[in-house]
Amino acid sequence: MDDRFNTIAGWALFSGIVALGLSSLSARYFEADKEHRPHEMGYPIEGVESGEEGEKEVPLATLLAAADPAKGEQTFAKCKSCHTIEAGGPNGIGPNLHGVLGEPIGKGVGGFAFSSALSGIGGAWNFDNMNEWLKSPKAFAPGTKMTFAGLSKPEDRANLMVYLNSQGSNLALPEPPPAEEEAPAEGAEAAPAEGDAAAEAPAEGEASAEEAQAAE
Ligand code: HEC
Repeated sequence: MDDRFNTIAGWALFSGIVALGLSSLSARYFEADKEHRPHEMGYPIEGVESGEEGEKEVPLATLLAAADPAKGEQTFAKCKSCHTIEAGGPNGIGPNLHGVLGEPIGKGVGGFAFSSALSGIGGAWNFDNMNEWLKSPKAFAPGTKMTFAGLSKPEDRANLMVYLNSQGSNLALPEPPPAEEEAPAEGAEAAPAEGDAAAEAPAEGEASAEEAQAAE
């Protein structure tokens, strides 16, 4: 008899605990109808939210630091119909481009007949003005003879410029802004924290699914 009583009491106690646990859990999970319900449902995903930030241009120096000259060489295929790049290469429809970065704009070698639109610009080629030129030759030098539409993707231009730079120029790449260097450090800190939270992850996953349903 005693045994039975213990068993029954045990189950009663157990179900009480379970009920308590469930109610506190559901209180936590079903917050949707409470006053302190979150203003924005769902949770922000880092790095995705901000439309504004996404539109910000990545600094050229950052692109150049990450640029790949091998990809730039592939992009240079678009230029080959008019340009040679090897040292002492002939001028074609366009001038030979060996070592062009750092050279005076629109002067060239071997007597290429530049348009005054380009030769009148003055100064020397650097990453900034080359970037503008490659984006839109027409916008950079209205009236230029280079009938090339331009490369709209900043990454393509960065890769191409690093390739050009490797062909007889060797200008020093601009320093990428420091913000870029801090980013990996942040990531490294965040990683262990995520690892700690991993044990709770399934419960959180359930919660958010239920919250999402409640929100509908
Ligand atoms: C349809 C032919 C053509 C194509 C394609 C072309 N260019 Fe040109 N390029 C020219 C001509 C012509 C000039 C001279 C422009 C002038 O005098 O106004 C020129 C000039 C240049 C100059 C200036 C050289 C100097 O010494 O100042 C650079 C740099 C250049 N091109 C790079 C490129 C790159 C990089 C590509 C490929 C993405 C390219 N071009 C594609 C015809 C072309």
